[in-house]
Amino acid sequence: MLEGRTEAGALRAESAGQEVKLYGWTQSRRDHGGVIFVDLRDRSGLAQVVFSPEMGETGFADAEKLRSEYVIAVKGRVRLRPAGSENPKMATGEVEVVVAALTILSRARTPPFYIEDGAEVDESIRLKYRYLDLRRPEMREVFRLRSRVTQIMRRYLDEAGFWEIETPVLGKSTPEGARDYLVPSRVNPGAFYALPQSPQIFKQLLMVAGMEKYYQIARCFRDEDLRADRQPEFTQLDLEMSFVDAGDVMNVAEGLFRLILRDAAGRETAAPLPRLTCREALERFGSDKPDTRFGMELVDIADIARGCGFKVFADVIARGGLVKGICAKGFAGTPRRELDDLTAFVARYGAKGLAYIVITPEELKSPIVKFFSEEELRAIVSRLGGEAGDILFFCADKPAVVYQALGQLRLEIARRRNLIPAGRLDALWVTEFPLLEYDEAEKRFVAIHHPFTAPLDEDIPLLASDPLSVRSKAYDLVLNGVELGGGSIRIHEGETQQRVFDLLGFTPERARENFGFLLDAFSYGVPPHGGLAFGLDRLVMILAGRNSIRDVIAFPKTQSASCLMTQAPDAVSAAQLRELHIRI
Ligand code: AMO
Ligand code: AMP
Repeated sequence: MLEGRTEAGALRAESAGQEVKLYGWTQSRRDHGGVIFVDLRDRSGLAQVVFSPEMGETGFADAEKLRSEYVIAVKGRVRLRPAGSENPKMATGEVEVVVAALTILSRARTPPFYIEDGAEVDESIRLKYRYLDLRRPEMREVFRLRSRVTQIMRRYLDEAGFWEIETPVLGKSTPEGARDYLVPSRVNPGAFYALPQSPQIFKQLLMVAGMEKYYQIARCFRDEDLRADRQPEFTQLDLEMSFVDAGDVMNVAEGLFRLILRDAAGRETAAPLPRLTCREALERFGSDKPDTRFGMELVDIADIARGCGFKVFADVIARGGLVKGICAKGFAGTPRRELDDLTAFVARYGAKGLAYIVITPEELKSPIVKFFSEEELRAIVSRLGGEAGDILFFCADKPAVVYQALGQLRLEIARRRNLIPAGRLDALWVTEFPLLEYDEAEKRFVAIHHPFTAPLDEDIPLLASDPLSVRSKAYDLVLNGVELGGGSIRIHEGETQQRVFDLLGFTPERARENFGFLLDAFSYGVPPHGGLAFGLDRLVMILAGRNSIRDVIAFPKTQSASCLMTQAPDAVSAAQLRELHIRI
């Protein structure tokens, strides 16, 4: 059937005169009194095909029956469209195919929405009829891009000496990290597998096994609250290397990232990517995944405000907190209502208030200027680079609240005022994350990355004296404010691993119970190793200019982790449950 097939989207003026066979869907049918025009759509694009009574009575009668989304095969000759009827909006708009024979391969019900780009269709309808949604050209292009990206990954890593190795999907539930998806075992009553949150432990065991350079395009499963950039199952490009330090892993990852941008998105990136420590990212952008496509950086004014008459600021500083500000350029005309709105916005992040100074050509307008001396005000305005027409916003609080509130405010203002240049791609590395944070709910330390991440050598002594100030050998690749990938150098000796387990509150018995196989493996000679995982869905989302990873996953789940097309998850029969030894 495929022999001699031509792709509809490939037809050009040079094709005129050729005999072609096209297969595809009926995009639209227009009856022009005795002549029928159909746009035939296949994966490559659209071509206009023309039916006239000259093709024979039965053939023409069939053409009259065509409706949207009928699947057809046509044979005919390409000709230039008559002068004046070319369509410059269509890649194939200079030509049309005069049909000699038509076969209707299948009929179609009227689709629930038009198969075209830009149609306003509710996402739930799109997801219910995903196979129709995917017929739209913009969706089709997303998956062409996604396939390209994975091909580039495979080619690059193969050339760099990586081996593609699969790891199990039915695994063991281990503590730490997100919630697991569990699978009951029929033959082991009461026992459960866990679906992998990532191939982390297995890839480390592959390093113990001497594989040296591993990669996998791996499905990961995490039972978390879902957001626009989070799905319960998602795909990582996962890799791990032996005998490396952080710089080696980052170089490999950066080389790949650069190649993908060049070959899949046609972008050259400045080499090498900037690197910020986590601390610097927080101080300047209020985020450990800073969006560096625009400025409006956070500025510290504690030294100026230390002795000021505004009690809120002075008290916070005296208690060791932070006072920081941002300068919203050209924001001075903002109505009071919107300022109240922004105050409510930062309150969501724990800020107790949002002080502001409006700079007009004549004066500084603000409820708080009366508490400051002329000199203090001049110093503050100049530190933030404020000019007439700007508004300065301030937040005083514990560091974590100031970072979050101003970091988010910065993004919100950029969104409201369209400050983010369209089409821009800004990537950077963030390094030196803290190893641990304190979980107030669980009243214990938890690993920021995972329990196998190595501390910086010079910080190891602090594990005993000041665990929260220990920095790790972890690194994240951030693109346009999205955490695109992350990894670390791993702990490769038992003693440090045991100390980290201790800090996380694992008794030696519990560490053995949960990670005994790993500790055993590490007692048989383990190479220094480290790696990283890219979020494939997030990468493709940004390259495709989409706002949700649902748009780059063929069959994604909704906010409530269900599939609207298949109705998964769904009830199962009592017999199935009995077999699995489960009672509900
Ligand atoms: P991490 O948990 O940081 O690291 O994940 C790596 C990358 O995977 C993507 N990602 C997600 N994408 C979509 N939906 C989700 N729910 C989701 N969660 C994570 C992000 C993230 O940067 N094993 C380690 C890597 C390593 O240490 O080598 C890991 O999984 O883009
Ligand atoms: P008040 O004196 O409480 O009326 O506050 C004066 C201004 O300071 C208001 O605009 C408040 O939103 C703001 N403000 C109050 N607390 C803080 C804080 N912790 N950080 C920044 N601004 C604050």
